[in-house]
Amino acid sequence: QFMGEIMGLSVLEKGIKDKLQVENVVVVPGNSDDYEWVKQEMGKACVSFLKKVTQSNATIAVTGGTTMASVANVMTPLEKADNYLFVPARGGIGEKVENQANTIAAKMSREAEGDYRLLYVPDPLSEISYQNIIQEPSIIEILQLIKNANIVLHGIGDALTMAERRKTSSEVMGILRDKKAVSEAFGYYFDQEGNVVHKVRTVGLQLEDLETMEYVITVAGGKSKAKAIESYFKHGKSNMLITDEAAAEQILRDS
Ligand code: G3H
Repeated sequence: QFMGEIMGLSVLEKGIKDKLQVENVVVVPGNSDDYEWVKQEMGKACVSFLKKVTQSNATIAVTGGTTMASVANVMTPLEKADNYLFVPARGGIGEKVENQANTIAAKMSREAEGDYRLLYVPDPLSEISYQNIIQEPSIIEILQLIKNANIVLHGIGDALTMAERRKTSSEVMGILRDKKAVSEAFGYYFDQEGNVVHKVRTVGLQLEDLETMEYVITVAGGKSKAKAIESYFKHGKSNMLITDEAAAEQILRDS
């Protein structure tokens, strides 16, 4: 039965590689909508991949969310490298503190025995504060580190679920509904075709910055995220998707 499970998962991995056009895929058993341990398994797969690809002096940028928090929980030192740095990918985007990128970067660095730098920005940010803040020398310095990161670890959320969790204004909720937002990653909201329909105003990594990253590692699972994962992969850059069986099966079922 164990072998059957392994074979089943590798068939799913192959199917997802073809359908989403991504070079590396890992599918772990289960459905992370129902069980927390499934997120931990995705976390472990993420840490093993990170161990393979992280070189000494690397900068690793991380986003927020409960999935990234699970990755942080199972983080261990990245044996083959040293002197690596964790940074948050973007400023706070309305999440509870335990789900914020800053908290997760600090936790990952503690577990991995690396360094970290934090990005302190008020959340949400008005246009005028934004324009001022990006001129602060201390902010400029950390933004340089973020934009020049070698590796990015990020989650994908279902658009409306994320918007509600972040207590988004009713005006923006209206925009997301009108424009049929399906997924969210890095504070950007995407429709079914992968077009950006809205973006949270904060400093940090911009989608364009992904182009120069060596590895973009995506961790997202749960049957409820199937459509969101498909939407992100329409245009979003990723070199590695770590997902679960329930999401993978649903993605392959969707036409
Ligand atoms: O950006 C994506 C979301 O942060 C994912 O959040 O891992 O809690 O579903 P989640």
